[in-house]
Amino acid sequence: MTDQAIKTADTSDRAAKKLFIKTYGCQMNVYDSQRMAEAMAVEGYVLTEDQNDADMVLLNTCHIREKAAEKLYSDLGRLKPLKAERPDLKIGVAGCVAQAEGEEITRRMPVVDLVVGPQAYHRLPAMVRGEAPNIVTDFPEEDKFEHLPERRATRRAPAAFLTVQEGCDKFCAFCVVPYTRGAEVSRPVERIMREARDLVARGVREITLLGQNVNGWHGVGEDGREWGFGRLIRALGDIDGMDRIRYTTSHPNDMADDLISAHRDVPQLMPYLHLPVQSGSDRILKAMNRKHTAEQYLRLIDRIRNARPDIMLTSDFIVGFPGETDADHQDTLRLVAEVNFGTAFSFKYSPRPGTPAYDRPEVDSKVADDRLQELQALLTKQQRAAQEGMIGRTLGVLFEKAGRIEGQMVGKSDYLHSVFVEAPNVQIGDLVQVRIIGSARNSLHGELVA
Ligand code: SAH
Ligand code: SF4
Ligand code: F3S
Repeated sequence: MTDQAIKTADTSDRAAKKLFIKTYGCQMNVYDSQRMAEAMAVEGYVLTEDQNDADMVLLNTCHIREKAAEKLYSDLGRLKPLKAERPDLKIGVAGCVAQAEGEEITRRMPVVDLVVGPQAYHRLPAMVRGEAPNIVTDFPEEDKFEHLPERRATRRAPAAFLTVQEGCDKFCAFCVVPYTRGAEVSRPVERIMREARDLVARGVREITLLGQNVNGWHGVGEDGREWGFGRLIRALGDIDGMDRIRYTTSHPNDMADDLISAHRDVPQLMPYLHLPVQSGSDRILKAMNRKHTAEQYLRLIDRIRNARPDIMLTSDFIVGFPGETDADHQDTLRLVAEVNFGTAFSFKYSPRPGTPAYDRPEVDSKVADDRLQELQALLTKQQRAAQEGMIGRTLGVLFEKAGRIEGQMVGKSDYLHSVFVEAPNVQIGDLVQVRIIGSARNSLHGELVA
């Protein structure tokens, strides 16, 4: 989960209007913010990192848990004095809260000028020009990506996101995503391939394929046949200059055989898989409508590890789901112990309006807090062990930025760990062999291999 301002300010044009974007939520929102910034660039807006200096502030929001959604309103509260000082400041709300709450946002917060849902943001430029309504939250028939201006021919950072699939038909009982992002839609092969080739031509070496159920992607391939996600990864791996491929987020029930074998066959596909399971209790999995058992998940992990023995697994968990007992919680701890994750996100259940579980009797809040702590302690122990297990290994590191200390560079290992290296001669975008020599809380330390 990220919570960040886009940092690549382009200051070439001094007369241009300035756009400040704040992104909440998942990687797909990060990708969407980038696309909105590019669409607005065509309108003459350049990005700024300073909200106080902006002509337009765009908040790209997340609705997944109550806390995430409420953040929008505290941020809007802080924008009020700025708007009072400069009434021509435009304030826009995009993303999943925009979709879920629509005009409720402008009613509660009159400082907001524009509300645009995640499937309609190709209309943002027209909205800003006053040529479209100021609230757009429909799910249009057309593919929004086809109606966005082409991505600009500027050089890009070495690692990029690429959305290949959006929406969700799974309807887990706790989750807002099927409502905020709509039905599952796969982008066509040729558009994905075109965007991927374009990114590689602009200096990108690592692409993370995004989708709410990314492994449910399917489409008609360049050979006229129906392709699954594994086949798409094979095609992307054949692009000259594509050094690394990752994908997120996957559903266990969509891990097809061809995708599992792609982990064995495609060297560009990194040995890392985020596969949310949510709970280790069959009773709770059923109540969550996850449509698989704990045992099925464990056997799936066996098959994946057979194909790629060094793969690192990560996951998401919800504790305190309605009806969860101590025995259910113990089942979750047992599953975690059996899989041994590289790292994982765990959340306290948050009831979301409009979802099937919303009205179910809640677990005592203090009990849920204690369970969350116990689960996180176990996951932290596993993360530490996984990181310490990297010490002595030599791994590829793709360098993405300079470190705080002079001469230090920071990059990502095959396993997505941040690696700090004293390497004054290494450039951003270099993919170099590094020996891991130390582990800190959330990062590794390495040295260049001569
Ligand atoms: N498509 C992804 C999930 C996206 S949401 C998937 O199927 O895994 C990311 C994570 O947020 C989920 O995996 C879940 O662990 C958590 N989450 C979703 N809804 C939640 C809720 N109501 N309360 C607490 N955590 C939630
Ligand atoms: Fe939400 Fe479940 Fe869909 Fe993931 S699979 S986005 S958790 S409904
Ligand atoms: Fe949040 Fe929407 Fe992503 S609810 S997690 S921003 S899909």
